Amino acid sequence: MKKFKAFSIGFVVLFSIVPCFAQQKTIAAKVEALLAKMTLEEKVGQMNQLNGDWEATGPITKDVGNKLEEIKQGKVGSVLNIMGTNHTRAFQEAAMQSRLKIPLLFGQDVIHGYSITFPIPLAEAASWDLAAMERSARVAATEAAAAGIHWTFAPMVDIARDPRWGRVMEGAGEDTYLGSLIAKARVKGFQGKGLGNIDAVMACVKHFAAYGAAIGGRDYNSVDMSRRTLWETYLPPFKAALDAGAATFMNSFNDLNGTPATGSSYLQRDILKGKWGFKGFVVSDWNSVGEMIPHGFVKDNYEAAEVAIKAGNDMDMESRAYIGNLAKLVRDGRVSISLVNEAVKRILTTKFEMGLFDDPYKYINPTREKATMNRPENIEAARDMGRKSIVLLKNEKNILPLSKNIQSIALIGPLVKEKWYLKGAWSTDVDPNDNVVSIYEGIQKQAPGAKIYYAEGCKIKDSIATDFKEAVEAAKKADVVVMAVGEDIFMTGEARSKADIHIPGVQEDLIKAVVATGKPVVVLLMAGRPMIFNWTADHAPAIVYTWWLGSQMGNAVADVLFGNYNPAGKLPITFPRSEGQIPIYYNHLNTGRPAQGDNDRFYRSSYIDLPNTPQYAFGYGLSYTTFAYSNISISKTAIKKNESLTVSFDLQNTGTVAGEEIAQLYIRDMVARPLRPVKELKGFKKVMLAPGETKHISFTINKEKLAFYNNNLERITQPGEFKLMIGAASNNIKLEKSFQLTN
Ligand code: BGC
Repeated sequence: MKKFKAFSIGFVVLFSIVPCFAQQKTIAAKVEALLAKMTLEEKVGQMNQLNGDWEATGPITKDVGNKLEEIKQGKVGSVLNIMGTNHTRAFQEAAMQSRLKIPLLFGQDVIHGYSITFPIPLAEAASWDLAAMERSARVAATEAAAAGIHWTFAPMVDIARDPRWGRVMEGAGEDTYLGSLIAKARVKGFQGKGLGNIDAVMACVKHFAAYGAAIGGRDYNSVDMSRRTLWETYLPPFKAALDAGAATFMNSFNDLNGTPATGSSYLQRDILKGKWGFKGFVVSDWNSVGEMIPHGFVKDNYEAAEVAIKAGNDMDMESRAYIGNLAKLVRDGRVSISLVNEAVKRILTTKFEMGLFDDPYKYINPTREKATMNRPENIEAARDMGRKSIVLLKNEKNILPLSKNIQSIALIGPLVKEKWYLKGAWSTDVDPNDNVVSIYEGIQKQAPGAKIYYAEGCKIKDSIATDFKEAVEAAKKADVVVMAVGEDIFMTGEARSKADIHIPGVQEDLIKAVVATGKPVVVLLMAGRPMIFNWTADHAPAIVYTWWLGSQMGNAVADVLFGNYNPAGKLPITFPRSEGQIPIYYNHLNTGRPAQGDNDRFYRSSYIDLPNTPQYAFGYGLSYTTFAYSNISISKTAIKKNESLTVSFDLQNTGTVAGEEIAQLYIRDMVARPLRPVKELKGFKKVMLAPGETKHISFTINKEKLAFYNNNLERITQPGEFKLMIGAASNNIKLEKSFQLTN
């Protein structure tokens, strides 16, 4: 029976692979046949991507002529920033007038939702819920594909350890292990059952590579790091996304150790297309080919095009360096035609895989577009993703959840009635206020009997506290106060790095004035990055970090405030006490003089004016219930390199309401060369427990979890002692065990 089953599985696998191979083979043959008909100019046209008729997402560098004419002449292979079937149809019709009728690929930054806006990616990462993030990407893809879009420039998988960097909002935070799993989930979500399915969009993994490590957190800045750190910390999420089948990659604006990523053969040819065997195509970032000139890497666009194609950049986004120079470079003998052919083949292959040669209007159907947007089940998914992304930072005397029968609530702060900002940067929804539930509306709906006293208090950017009188009066009249403060939508995202990441303006003074009333105060903090709010952390009784949660934000927040949902989010990034601590991340090395506590400063690696510890650590987050960790055991105290062991423990809900805990496994390699971090996340489980319930949880430890890169960039393990730590946060380890890795 068993044998038969194995055989039948093999049979099924074989026969489902055969059509796939056959399809690939026919696509390859079709690509070759088409290539043979193309002139050099038409080939270069396929490698040229131009901005469409939606908002430009970068500086327009050239005074361009008539784009539709250029498309008709076969000079454009792809258009970005174009949305909606009426727009895509007009452009595709132009492509159908070109000599070879090669369809255009339409790309768009569908980063966290299309018509329905989901939480910003950093917020979603706080859910540690891979299935939910996959679903979020799935909904985004379904809506985008129905709007005629073939390709999203997502996921951004850049590891980010610097909250000053505005684009920290767009990724999964600071951790490589968590970030790699999220990268995979998002690719799977976007690409669904595979390219060519009517509801799938091509993923574009970005920004290759190390963009998140820009010096000083300043966008587009240089990156200087060892190759070992690159391989160890920054590349794994890219590899995970590739393994999940990502169709395309985008390179990045930064230089890495003196070479702009767009011109880096090491990144694109040696690693991505070489060692990793990537079969899709690489698109540049916006004008990043041309920007090799101000970098000082090339002298003009002619040289920029030469360097970029040789380095493995297949498509040029908006710099027109390829369309203006590549044909000449080939004719001048500077670039081999085989490089052009290789790039064009990669691009055409995806167009065939997407089914665009069978029907260039395949994704352009206004009836389907209308029927697909804003489906109730998808709105519900956005609300669910919203509440899963919320992190409860503080809840003194269990102020939260609020009673649904509460008599009166004061709603105070500049973000209480805000709608547009709740969507966060990189939202594609056209009407800013469309379908957004404000905090005010969300709370009002869930406490219909409560009297609401509202006061704006101040504006986000006010630098002088004019008068908090109205806010204080509102607070005094109410049983409880909910404050909504934070950043505005323009304070995170691309080109929105900040040197000062405190809560902007006088908002923290507003919090002080309201807390001084002695009323129970719940502070909702909204931002696309970790902010600094030390006074609030010390004095506000309850703090909820809500990030930007998208169109359902008001409902999601109210679900948490009134206990319809028990918050379970944990921070995917460290929250510093001061900008002076940045970069600050949990998985650092130990140094020869590690400080043993915040006051251990005598000849120690510490600051004399600041503790080393963050305000809130990676992995931190509270619940309305409590959890106990006990009974740790390991299956073996010593293993050989190719063996594995199991570590298990009991997790109990010791409170009175049901809740989920994200139990985290960290590892430390005690003695190693080169050095290993004090802790590294190597596993986590999100577990739902009824009050009083206990579950037995286990993790498997194997070679993969113990391996690391040495200075020769080989992935190795070293024998010796390893410590296993299980806890509720990176700074809240509850259980420990050690084992030996033997030769
Ligand atoms: C960003 C990319 C984005 C592209 C197209 C660039 O400025 O860095 O992440 O995909 O614009 O909008």
